[in-house]
Amino acid sequence: MTASNQPIGVFDSGYGGLTVLKEIVDLLPQYDFVYLGDNARTPYGTRSFDVVYEYTLEAVKRLFDEGCHLVILACNTASAKALRNIQQKDLPVIAPNKRVLGVIRPSVEEVAKMTKNGHVGVVATSGTVASESYPIELEKWSNGRVKQTTQMACPMWVPIVENNVMNTAGADYFVQDNLQSLFQKDPSIDSLILGCTHYPLLIDSIRKYIPRQEVNIIEQGKIVAQKLYEYLARHPEMESNCSKHSTRKYLTTEDPHFFEARAAQFLGYDIQADKIEL
Ligand code: DGL
Repeated sequence: MTASNQPIGVFDSGYGGLTVLKEIVDLLPQYDFVYLGDNARTPYGTRSFDVVYEYTLEAVKRLFDEGCHLVILACNTASAKALRNIQQKDLPVIAPNKRVLGVIRPSVEEVAKMTKNGHVGVVATSGTVASESYPIELEKWSNGRVKQTTQMACPMWVPIVENNVMNTAGADYFVQDNLQSLFQKDPSIDSLILGCTHYPLLIDSIRKYIPRQEVNIIEQGKIVAQKLYEYLARHPEMESNCSKHSTRKYLTTEDPHFFEARAAQFLGYDIQADKIEL
């Protein structure tokens, strides 16, 4: 693949990253994108650090093989558990000119601007919560604006989305239960990060059960899209390598027909997917 013929890769454990891809494509329609969903091995959120790292690295290498020179981990769990190792340990050895970016830092910078009282809530997978990535990054990058970060692991939310049972009584039960527990821990939360890219697909239930309607709900898609736009403007050497034919390619480790049907629901248009092995 020639230098100026390189798509941007977007990776998630499953469908969740499509919420990010949708916003990226809206903002940057001219670029070419390859989306990879590891649907056969989702969810990642309940897996160990080593396993998430191994799976994510396999996916990143596969996107490099597709010609991508820039890969967005549109998955908080992978960003929390694999990004640092990949950036610091793997890239210098396997692909020193390629870049891998995550979704946690952009979200942290945004919430730091948004909160008025410094009380931030994070709902995320068990893996992201256990990694403590959000409290650590908020402490580091919020210039003291975030005073208290309260997290809640929501292990059922990804399976609800992957199994397409949003907007059911079962989904409502888990959303209500987890939000109630979070706001019991800190009733003053004024900004809530949806720290998993699957969660915007549960936004109707989240809005229904958030105890105070004035709480800011931070969805990552638009934020990550804007940060990618700024990144490309700051890095002309990366931008000039991006191919711009508005093509989209979708890869999944599961049945491509399942993926096509579900992705069409999430994206609002039909797509064609190919099955790959990692
Ligand atoms: N979309 C992934 C995230 O943002 C979900 C992880 C999972 O597969 O559990 O964390």
